[in-house]
Amino acid sequence: MRMYDLIMKKRNGGALSTEEIRFMIKGFTLGEIPDYQMSAMMMAIYFQGMNEDETLALTMEMAKSGDMLDLSDINGIKVDKHSTGGVGDKTSLALTPMVAALGVPVAKMSGRGLGHTGGTIDKLESFTGFSTEISEQQFKDNVNKIGIAIMGQTAELAPADKKLYALRDVTATVDNMSLIASSIMSKKLAAGADAIVLDVKTGSGAFMKKEEDSFELAREMVRLGKGAGRDTVAVVSDMDQPLGFAVGNALEVREAIDTLNGRGPKDFEELCLTLGSYMALAAGKAQSVDEARKKLIGCIEDGSALKKLAEFVAAQGGDGELVYHPERLPQASIIEEIPSPSDGYIQKIVCDEIGICSLILGGGRETKESSIDLSVGLVLHKKVGDAVKKGESLATIHANDSEKLAAAKARFLAAYTINDTPVTKKPLIKGIVNG
Ligand code: URA
Repeated sequence: MRMYDLIMKKRNGGALSTEEIRFMIKGFTLGEIPDYQMSAMMMAIYFQGMNEDETLALTMEMAKSGDMLDLSDINGIKVDKHSTGGVGDKTSLALTPMVAALGVPVAKMSGRGLGHTGGTIDKLESFTGFSTEISEQQFKDNVNKIGIAIMGQTAELAPADKKLYALRDVTATVDNMSLIASSIMSKKLAAGADAIVLDVKTGSGAFMKKEEDSFELAREMVRLGKGAGRDTVAVVSDMDQPLGFAVGNALEVREAIDTLNGRGPKDFEELCLTLGSYMALAAGKAQSVDEARKKLIGCIEDGSALKKLAEFVAAQGGDGELVYHPERLPQASIIEEIPSPSDGYIQKIVCDEIGICSLILGGGRETKESSIDLSVGLVLHKKVGDAVKKGESLATIHANDSEKLAAAKARFLAAYTINDTPVTKKPLIKGIVNG
């Protein structure tokens, strides 16, 4: 088999066989197929597309290109959750202890933030001492003992995707539905859970800006998950404005704690309850979504979800007491309000701009090597559809540097559109894709 022939076949609109895809991914992972040939193939796929069989074969080959985590030592049905990423998306922080309190084993791999979206690992490091650098054995033991563990993604997980994604990123071949879906799902399959619940975001702060594209991605990923024998469901949710109110690492941890105390923002709580219900259902902890939802609300009301978060933080070296004393989480030195420049209704918030404000304040990473300030960020007081009076606070800004604060404030105000027309609020959950 020759890579040249495969490129020609795809360029001319042909479909690659599973054997051909295996040859290509193995060769590329081992460095036998050079980047220039793989780049040509990615561009041919970009223009000619891939059929369902090709996309599944690509996903499986990338998933098998490195370690496939074996979670069979963990008792019960393991359910993973994945978000395509957004601004203020602190879902894992509240959702995982909620479902773990219900007895759903959570064995999760998470990432760090890059660009305008945050990462779960950075947020968790707001708990002094907390580490996701734990061995695979400790990871499994913790899940068996306390029902929850989160570790960083290892380099050995789907290395073909890592290499291919880096290449796509510099050859203008990222935004192809088959390539995106196979990239995300290869990592999820390698991470070993029995069932996968996907949170596919849509809107100005999401990877997919258009709702129809988000639904198409959701359908494709659900098809791939099921094709690989994993129970998979996707929730398509709004990311046209930040989720909840808090944007910034320690501020989001506080909001997650508030939510586990039953005092969280309604949209954020709704997302956690929806995703959590599908996780509980997949794990056999409830017979219906309604029953799962009631049980999850019960875990908030009786304090067991909050206690689970404290246990989880302590089990990974962090100060679990901070869960009960969030005022001791990292705090910024300058706290200021951003007053509204006019009366009216919030028409629109350019969502990714709010993520960029947090980045400017020091809360995000410009490059993989940058260090971040966990204490900075914003807490919004007004979201789309809310009425506001001139001078009333749109948000509280938390900063450690007055120049950065001024820059973030200007950018924040430019991201808000306020005028006289009342706005109907849009639902957070756009739909469920499960087949
Ligand atoms: N995230 C991924 O992991 N892969 C893609 O291709 C796009 C987003």
